[in-house]
Amino acid sequence: MTLLVGRRAAVRLADEFREVYAAAFGTEPYFEDAEQAETWRQTFTLRHTGREGFRCAVVREKGRVLGFGYGYTGGYGQWWTDRVASLIAPELSAEWLGDHFEFVELAVLPGHQGRGLGAALHDALLAGLPHRRAVLSTWRFDTPARRLYLNRGWSALVEDLDGESSLFGRVLP
Ligand SMILES: CC(C)(COP(=O)(O)OP(=O)(O)OC[C@H]1O[C@@H](n2cnc3c(N)ncnc32)[C@H](O)[C@@H]1OP(=O)(O)O)[C@@H](O)C(=O)NCCC(=O)NCCS
Repeated sequence: MTLLVGRRAAVRLADEFREVYAAAFGTEPYFEDAEQAETWRQTFTLRHTGREGFRCAVVREKGRVLGFGYGYTGGYGQWWTDRVASLIAPELSAEWLGDHFEFVELAVLPGHQGRGLGAALHDALLAGLPHRRAVLSTWRFDTPARRLYLNRGWSALVEDLDGESSLFGRVLP
């Protein structure tokens, strides 16, 4: 079952999330190692969970975390927003960046992928958000994640953002 959890619960679950992250991003096309998963955990715990509008969705089975996703309100002054703004046309930044929902991460354990968990996490994260726009970056080449986003109302704002990723946007109801 997919649940939204608050900041404190998210911090408590961070070690379990790191295991899911390491498994999901440890394979093609990402090939991230354990150190990168730990760096992600620290950023998540120390910085991301404290951001305004933080929202985290978790799917558990028999107490075990099988997948998670999260995001928060993005804005100028944050690393990702400033970096993206430096790479895209000013008109695109003006339309999409600032007070957007930043869809930061989505990961499901490889042994449980293809069961609809990623889609359920995605839908839970976006349901009822007050933001007008959501943005994310994802691998530029064909991946399950990319297909998931394209099937769920996202479109590519910039196909080639930085050589390896695309910038996606979605208008929220
Ligand atoms: C992206 C991810 C979270 C999807 O999780 P999931 O539980 O497998 O997703 P679902 O079962 O809900 O499938 C959602 C869509 O993904 C696609 N998909 C999922 N598994 C797939 C597979 N093995 N092959 C092809 N497409 C696949 C399908 O298009 C599916 O859409 P549909 O239901 O409309 O056909 C998962 O693949 C993952 O953790 N990937 C590694 C981490 C990652 O890329 N995160 C996103 C970074 S931006």
